[in-house]
Amino acid sequence: MRFFILHGPNLNLLGKREPGIYGSLTLEEINRSIKSLAVELGCEVEFLQSNSEGDLINAIQSAAGVFDGIVINPAAYTHTSIAIRDALAAIGLPFVEVHLSNIHSREDFRHKSLTAPLAAGQISGFGQESYLLGLRAIFTIAKK
Ligand code: DQA
Repeated sequence: MRFFILHGPNLNLLGKREPGIYGSLTLEEINRSIKSLAVELGCEVEFLQSNSEGDLINAIQSAAGVFDGIVINPAAYTHTSIAIRDALAAIGLPFVEVHLSNIHSREDFRHKSLTAPLAAGQISGFGQESYLLGLRAIFTIAKK
C-alpha cells in the first residue's frame, strides 16, 4: 500500500517557525519518522510540501489510482480552501487530516476546517505524533 503525505504552506519552516506552537522538529525530521513508521507497518510513503494551493490541488488530483490514501496537513488552507476540499472530494480517496497544534484551542478562525467533514477523521494537537497517528489511521482504513 502507498500513501501520500501532503504538507501545506509554511510547514517547510518547521523547526524555526513559532516553536512554542509547532515544536522544534524540522519537516525533514518529521518525514524521517513517518518513513520509519511506514517501514515498520510495511507500506510506502511519498511526501510533498508546497506553499502553493494550485500545487497541492494538482498533487491531490494526481493521487487517484496511484495511492491508497492521503495524510494531509493543509495548514492555513484548512480554514480557507474550498478548492482543496473539492479536489479531495473529486478523487474520493480516503484521507486523514492532521495538525501539529490543537486548532480547536487556538484562534476562532482556526476552529473551522473545510476539509475535515470529508476526512475519515482529524488528528490535531500532538505535534509530530499527529502525523504518525494519521499514518496508522489511514493504513488501518485502507487495509479494510
Ligand atoms: C496547522 C494549524 C493551522 O491553523 C496553521 O495555519 C498551520 C499549521 C497545524 O499543523 O497545527 O499552518 O495546520
